[in-house]
Amino acid sequence: MLVHRTIADFRAWRAAWSGSVGLVPTMGYLHEGHLSLVRASKRDCAITVATIFVNPTQFAPTEDLSTYPRDEARDLDLLKAERVDAVLIPTADEIYPDGYATYVEVEGLTARLEGASRPTHFRGVTTVVMKLLQIMRPQRAYFGQKDAQQLAVVRRMVHDLNVPVEIIGQPIVREPDGLAMSSRNVYLTPEQRQAALVLSRCVRMAEQWFTDGVRDATAIRDEMHAMIAEEPLAEVDYVSLADAETLQEIDHIEAPALASLAVRFGSTRLIDNTTLTP
Ligand code: PAF
Repeated sequence: MLVHRTIADFRAWRAAWSGSVGLVPTMGYLHEGHLSLVRASKRDCAITVATIFVNPTQFAPTEDLSTYPRDEARDLDLLKAERVDAVLIPTADEIYPDGYATYVEVEGLTARLEGASRPTHFRGVTTVVMKLLQIMRPQRAYFGQKDAQQLAVVRRMVHDLNVPVEIIGQPIVREPDGLAMSSRNVYLTPEQRQAALVLSRCVRMAEQWFTDGVRDATAIRDEMHAMIAEEPLAEVDYVSLADAETLQEIDHIEAPALASLAVRFGSTRLIDNTTLTP
């Protein structure tokens, strides 16, 4: 597995490849969720490349950029074990050199849910993803369904900007007790870790009610709120039942809908979701 630290090095290596390339963009501190993206790319593509870059522009000044968990040596071991072909680990100066002034913004979709709580977040995500797509020129790029809004925003961006890449979403990977895997789970105290199971309980409830024939979106949202209220360590950020494509809140489920929530446990904010397809 080749490890490139500069865009120029990566490009020189990439120039030799004409077969299908799959990109797995990450911020490192890898877990099974990331590895499931790598495996999907290995299944679909001749070459699999990954990036490890904790992207400063998607963190607000109040967020956890400086403390975001990092373990490059372990990440490289994991990627090597999955037979990833090459990894790009750029510095922040390499991606955003002095005088950097260009950003990509998707309107509308980014105003809701995560975007309402984190107003500058998606501008940072779309900018870095667009840059990585330009640098790496993959035929396919893999994203986790856990960040469902990110997936929808990236799909919108590549569609609107005619980027010749297929965006592939992969299912959420969960711990045995149901907690969605996230690099941020490491921040949780044992008590918060236990309390955080309320997220997957909400998701399972939404799925069960939907399977039982409930189509009243307000009733499902209200029940998610009630379940979170019963957990003393949990502080709700948002609970949503929205159209899966537009992310507009709905009253009734008539088309694929995204049930999603963001909840704080102390200073750690976790998200989870499920798609309900009639
Ligand atoms: O999902 C992530 O880890 C990040 O948002 C991404 C897509 C790697 C962009 O920094």
